[in-house]
Amino acid sequence: MVGLKLFLYRARNRLFSRRAWVVLCRPLEPHTETDIPDGIEVREASASDVEAIARALPDELAGRLSREKRMATVNERFGAGVPCILATDSDSSQVIGGCWCRKVTPGSMLWPLLPNRGVVFEISTLFVDPDYRGKNLGSILVEYACSMMKGRGFNGCVSLVWYTRPASVKAHLKIGFKPVGEKVTLSFLGVRRSHVHPGFRQERLPSTSKASS
Ligand SMILES: CC(C)(COP(=O)(O)OP(=O)(O)OC[C@H]1O[C@@H](n2cnc3c(N)ncnc32)[C@H](O)[C@@H]1OP(=O)(O)O)[C@@H](O)C(=O)NCCC(=O)NCCS
Repeated sequence: MVGLKLFLYRARNRLFSRRAWVVLCRPLEPHTETDIPDGIEVREASASDVEAIARALPDELAGRLSREKRMATVNERFGAGVPCILATDSDSSQVIGGCWCRKVTPGSMLWPLLPNRGVVFEISTLFVDPDYRGKNLGSILVEYACSMMKGRGFNGCVSLVWYTRPASVKAHLKIGFKPVGEKVTLSFLGVRRSHVHPGFRQERLPSTSKASS
């Protein structure tokens, strides 16, 4: 039954689908403080974390992937040297959140949207364990990533977030990210095309006092 549902989902997406992300940006500040709650550690991941990360990826991001595919995805990122930030529970060492920091190159389709085209990285696959959500951990992970990458010579951060994920949009807006555009991917009869443009749908963004300032 699950197999049939997955087949139908993929078939429908191949026939026609439209996905839209809001593009959020922030310059990196010289000094950023990350106020990490007691009982939680935030650090850069190492190769020995691969299995724990693959296990921790939530269903919203990896629910359709087998254990092997999750492992392969995480391993591939380590192999490519993409830094990964992790939040862990200090007592159990369980992975409770994370994100990756990928360098954005001038060849990227995002490049024309970036207000400060210097050395920019992209936050990807931001996640927090469902039991730990709503405690600022999403923002803390992004803030920690910004601070770490600043120390490695980066001066800007960009993040693409589905409009359908308001918690993630808000986790960015709360810490000073601004919307600068939109990415749209259309699939029609198996052919996929993506484009970016500077407009975005303000009405689909969650409200925060900082978002409109
Ligand atoms: C996105 C995610 C990482 C956020 O983690 P988090 O630790 O809950 O994030 P934060 O607590 O820092 O911020 C979330 C904010 O969104 C708010 N929020 C939660 N659900 C919301 C909703 N449906 N609509 C509007 N705001 C919402 C929270 O109240 C919080 O705001 P507040 O601090 O002002 O109360 C987490 O929800 C997650 O892992 N989701 C599944 C994976 C995912 O969607 N990743 C992003 C892919 S683009």
